[in-house]
Amino acid sequence: MIPLNQNLDSLKRSQIRVFTNLAKATPGCASLTIGEPDLDTPEAIKLAAMAALRDNQTHYAPNQGTPALREAIAARETNRGNPTRPENVLVTVGACQALFTALLGILNPGEEIIVPTPGFGLYETIATIAGAKTVPLDVTKTGFQITEAALAEVMTEKTKAIIINSPCNPTGVVFSAESLAAVKKAVLGKPVFVICDNVYYDLSYVDCPDISRDPDLRDQMILCQSFSKPWAMTGWRIGYLTCPDYVMDRLLLLSAATITAVPTFLQEAAITALNTDIAPLKAVYEKRRAYVCERLKAMGLSFPEPEGAFYVFVNIEKFGLDSETFCTRMIREGKLAVVPGACFGTEGYIRLSYCYSDEELKTGLDRLEAFIATL
Ligand SMILES: Cc1ncc(COP(=O)(O)O)c(C=O)c1O
Repeated sequence: MIPLNQNLDSLKRSQIRVFTNLAKATPGCASLTIGEPDLDTPEAIKLAAMAALRDNQTHYAPNQGTPALREAIAARETNRGNPTRPENVLVTVGACQALFTALLGILNPGEEIIVPTPGFGLYETIATIAGAKTVPLDVTKTGFQITEAALAEVMTEKTKAIIINSPCNPTGVVFSAESLAAVKKAVLGKPVFVICDNVYYDLSYVDCPDISRDPDLRDQMILCQSFSKPWAMTGWRIGYLTCPDYVMDRLLLLSAATITAVPTFLQEAAITALNTDIAPLKAVYEKRRAYVCERLKAMGLSFPEPEGAFYVFVNIEKFGLDSETFCTRMIREGKLAVVPGACFGTEGYIRLSYCYSDEELKTGLDRLEAFIATL
């Protein structure tokens, strides 16, 4: 065998896929694992893509994104209190490529990124590719919020960025104004970026404080955003980032070298998405959230209150099993798959998704109830 890139030897396979596949291979197994909307993309957005195709918008787009979409994004950001010029918008292949571009664009080997944990596993993967290191900031002991003291313990002279994902995958928790104030105090004026992963921001069921709008942090802020979750467009692969001018110069080169540009006709449809009200989709999740939380509470299970996204992070410590064993046994014995907390860097929890129909949720929760009764 010819040796491959050794920097990537420590890349881990996504355990979420491993558990989803195990569930698929287990006859009759139900699943509450997926992290994407089960709802369909609104019709108007699909029609816009078809019209753009018919209109032959099939040529390379500018590397940074079409002027029309960047203007629409800049207007959207500006309207929600994050004054943005089209020059500071880069259209990306979902938030994944926005995060990849942002982190690869700023990280040198050996530098560190702080990730409030439990957190989304992709940050660590990208840091590994960059030869950098992820430093977890355990929020489980502080009510799933960030404190000044906890931050002070993990900040070092190698800290290059802190990731803020609010509402958070896997907890659904929204970071409080106090948490964000602690972050601001720790990084303001220092050579440290805030990478704001706002992919669930539009799916918050409470008022969600937003650090990306802080005018004092503008020169240190990279906002990563996506069309995937609010408009049920995961398969379209489109998102964006915003950043200061001096950062854009670098990120644009990197993105152009990686993808050239996002497909032109998708960018046209994304403009329609920005004008499409997501309230009907959000109402569906909100109703499901109420049902799932009520059922879990009735089972005597505890979890941080999910205030956004479409996940609940349930504490399973009282059963005395590590999360992977719990999940493997529940697939085999209880015919239900969920995601182990270990996939997000935190033991003693499982993540349930409510991107499922009312019937599927009822089946899943009935099975969870029956399984825990056997432990
Ligand atoms: C926290 C978080 N960030 C980013 C992403 C990437 O989203 P996408 O690339 O579909 O925009 C996801 C997807 O699950 C996520 O949960």
